[in-house]
Amino acid sequence: MKFFIDTANLEEIKSAAQMGVLDGVTTNPSLAAKETTPYRELLGEICKVVSGPVSAEVLATDHDGMVREAEELAKIADNIVIKIPTILEGLKAIKTLTARRIATNATLVFSPTQAILVAKAGATYVSPFIGRLDDISTSGMDLVDQIVTIYHNYIFETQVLVASVRHPMHVVEAALIGADVVTMPYKVIGQLIKHPLTDIGLEKFISDFKKAQRG
Ligand code: E4P
Repeated sequence: MKFFIDTANLEEIKSAAQMGVLDGVTTNPSLAAKETTPYRELLGEICKVVSGPVSAEVLATDHDGMVREAEELAKIADNIVIKIPTILEGLKAIKTLTARRIATNATLVFSPTQAILVAKAGATYVSPFIGRLDDISTSGMDLVDQIVTIYHNYIFETQVLVASVRHPMHVVEAALIGADVVTMPYKVIGQLIKHPLTDIGLEKFISDFKKAQRG
């Protein structure tokens, strides 16, 4: 299973990269808007830190505009993946970009039908937004399960990238289902290592050893 970080914050990306478990990055316009560095410049910096896939999102909503933006973004670095919204024009753009060998990430996916279409169009990644489904009392993880099963049934090569992750159990459930990638906020990566029994056990080992040395 691959771990991506879902942020446009360079410090968070550098810190996650130092943990040694970071395989890639996903950004989106809302995340980019939180940063002061212009988006293109920021993407260039991110690609210097991370050699794995770095998703950069287009803002256009028509086929020609999306393809134009995608081609510009793809020039930033070889590891840029173009995030395309899962709408009809986006589907056409995925098809065009796939034919031009530009990697794509179909974003804002909320149904199995959308996932089937983007796989047929040749998307490199499909991003089901599970937290946003959970937010409206619908199981995001059921959608991941359906997509993984469908892709397995038809041997689609599109990788399932679980997005809109809110907490560690999302990561565990995605791993049990067999999703290819999970992208998560910096905070969630930090939460994955935490266990109170580890902290209590470590404290005891150290204090027992110190006591024995004193005696
Ligand atoms: C993924 O590519 C998106 O950037 C992200 O996961 C959206 O998450 P949110 O629903 O927490 O905004």
